[in-house]
Amino acid sequence: MSEHPVGFANGLTNYGDRDFSLYLRRSFAKSMGYSSAMLEKPVVGIAYTGSGFNNCHRHFPELLEAVKRGVLAAGALPVEFPTISLGEVFLNPTSLKFRNLMSIDTEEMVRAQPMDSVVLMGGCDKTLPAQLMGAVSAGRPAVMLVGGPMMTGRHHGERLGACTDCRRFWASYRAGKIDDREINEVEGKLATTAGTCAVMGTASTMACIVEALGMVLPGTAAIPAVHADRLRAAEATGALAVRLIGSKLTPDTLINEKSVENALRVLLAIGGSTNAIIHLTAIAGRAGVPVSLERLNVLSDTTPVLVNLKPVGNGYMEDFYAGGGMGALMRELKDLLHLDAMTVTGETLGQRLDIDCGDWVDRTVIAARGEPLEPVGGLVSLFGNLAPGGAILKRSAADANLFEIEGRAVVFTSLADLAARIDDPDLDVEANDILVLQNAGPHSVSAMPEAGYLPIPKKLASKGVKDMVRVSDARMSGTAFGTIVLHVTPDSASGGPLGLVHNGDRIKLSVKDRRIDLLVDEVELQKRQAVREKPPAVPERGYARLYAREILGADQGCDFAFLKP
Ligand code: FES
Repeated sequence: MSEHPVGFANGLTNYGDRDFSLYLRRSFAKSMGYSSAMLEKPVVGIAYTGSGFNNCHRHFPELLEAVKRGVLAAGALPVEFPTISLGEVFLNPTSLKFRNLMSIDTEEMVRAQPMDSVVLMGGCDKTLPAQLMGAVSAGRPAVMLVGGPMMTGRHHGERLGACTDCRRFWASYRAGKIDDREINEVEGKLATTAGTCAVMGTASTMACIVEALGMVLPGTAAIPAVHADRLRAAEATGALAVRLIGSKLTPDTLINEKSVENALRVLLAIGGSTNAIIHLTAIAGRAGVPVSLERLNVLSDTTPVLVNLKPVGNGYMEDFYAGGGMGALMRELKDLLHLDAMTVTGETLGQRLDIDCGDWVDRTVIAARGEPLEPVGGLVSLFGNLAPGGAILKRSAADANLFEIEGRAVVFTSLADLAARIDDPDLDVEANDILVLQNAGPHSVSAMPEAGYLPIPKKLASKGVKDMVRVSDARMSGTAFGTIVLHVTPDSASGGPLGLVHNGDRIKLSVKDRRIDLLVDEVELQKRQAVREKPPAVPERGYARLYAREILGADQGCDFAFLKP
């Protein structure tokens, strides 16, 4: 038997007799119909996340066939295995709670099963970060294949795509501008194909980030889910996974200071999702690379927004792909990127960008450096006595008229309180108040849901108020927009000052100074601290208990303490 085992001879089950272990494994593998010749081949594992609870991965059976074709043609044996799949809107209380569980599943199954390299098939918001976190920790050769975005639908001649338009129509419905009949009609037109949300939401942002990190084939992040190019990318990814066998280009080496900074530049230039800061922090953290919010501000001030997609701009992901995609974008950013960062194909980023792709770029979608959509990046971090560990504002999706204001706090102490009172006609709220949501951070029982996009109270929405400053320790969907301060750290449930805000307090936001402050004196804050509620009890058992004991703050990517390197 070989001294350097490959494929099914790898990582044998331990019975105390290696040859018996291999004989037994091959016997059982033969029950799946493999020939002896096939069982001699190296194995490419395929982490498969098709699920009836994940609409975004509906096309994965077809993609899987294409990956397998690529693996077989390149001379290895493809073997898919299931892992947890996280369909964003099907999980309670929120998908983020299970991202780390999926990362553990991915890491352990990649490490424990006999594969020489692995293709990670993901797409919906939390799946890509979970898979990459797991792959970094597993340290095996790996390449990612993203599922790709949905195509748009049509309503009364207008293009619609999940899910910025979902929110826009819902806001119109709340404001009484459209009726029950129309909102029901729109419901069937927002998500009309397989694939991830059609705008630059979290899934698309993460797809662009994994390309900036060098973890996918070049030019593949934005290919629509149902496009034939997506299948060709899947086939080529399978072939690449075979070339990766024995390679030292493992994810833990590809994720480093340079590639992470490239990813941050891309995140800023695409006006990407705030969630990506949490995920990138967690991914980089697995490789021992810190992501500093102060550094984010430095990069943000020197990175223009170039991509004109919803929720910040006008277009959809299908336009981004047709307009030149990630290659065109990164060529515009070339002087800001670390071009010597290595990628999974063995080329540097600079070599990837030097490949001639023709020079046509749709400038309505990807702006030239000299004519940016915004001269500075889409995200900024804020500090101040309300967020000593930092907070995030997506300034590109916010109303600049609200950037320098002081207002009265209207406080909701939990999601339940928000739901119960936000539309109360007697709610004491004015358009220039600041809405505050407490106890929706990673340490809360709600596990940091995408609830930071607090609805405008109905009594104000019906008068035409479209935006207000909203502050919380929650997250926001990448498809949402507004002047919304998120990820306030430390969060209320872990004892952060956000939990000390009372109705009627004054809060000052200054985007110019990168600060958010509670204008209450220290003595009063100490009094409130002395009588504040105890943190939620740790659940008795199961994953909820593990989560409660191990979860870290947003500044640590909401990873688990015991999963850090
Ligand atoms: Fe899956 Fe939006 S719901 S990407």
